[in-house]
Amino acid sequence: MKIMKTLALLSFVIISSGIVYAQDGESVFKSNCAACHTVGRGKLVGPDLAGIDSRRSEMWLVKWIKSSQQLVKSGDKDAADVFEQNNKIVMPDMSLSEGEIKSLLAYVKQAGSASAAVPAPAPKEAVNTTIAASAGQDSSSSFSSPGGMEYFLIALVCILFFVILGLSRVVKTLSAELAKVSQGK
Ligand code: HEC
Repeated sequence: MKIMKTLALLSFVIISSGIVYAQDGESVFKSNCAACHTVGRGKLVGPDLAGIDSRRSEMWLVKWIKSSQQLVKSGDKDAADVFEQNNKIVMPDMSLSEGEIKSLLAYVKQAGSASAAVPAPAPKEAVNTTIAASAGQDSSSSFSSPGGMEYFLIALVCILFFVILGLSRVVKTLSAELAKVSQGK
């Protein structure tokens, strides 16, 4: 009984700590970027960030997010192009730590692949077409709410916890009955 409880609790803790990383990124994104960017829902003030991890290197992204104008002025061609293509709207510098940026990018990557419904390692040519497709359509896929899957998992673990609790109680009473019976009534 004790072991069951501990096991259930332990699996709950392990699963929930595993998704904290992506959830952190989600809250960083929502409070700093969501006003100007979507992931897979088209352009707002800035470009749609779905699939950004396949268009730019992580180092480029970290530099850009810390200070896009510094990158533009450094003569980086990609940076200058994006700046031009967006009517020279300046994206404000973000005072985020590298860790925050990385967890944010992990969230964008996860949300991007969920909204495009692409199995993880998509081949290079396919990536371009899915980016075009997801920019064109108003992706109304079932996983478009990014937190949905996590909440579902947490609920599942909670339900399993109670099922295990209930089952172990049944087993206990059953074995007590059995003991009574085998003792000869
Ligand atoms: C005030 C609006 C605004 C906010 C807030 C903002 N951005 Fe931007 N972002 C832009 C604009 C506009 C561009 C297009 C480039 C330009 O004009 O400088 C852009 C471009 C980008 C690009 C380059 C896209 C590409 O195709 O290469 C990335 C990556 C990016 N933003 C990430 C972020 C992240 C991550 C955050 C939050 C930490 C964020 N942005 C917050 C407006 C914003």
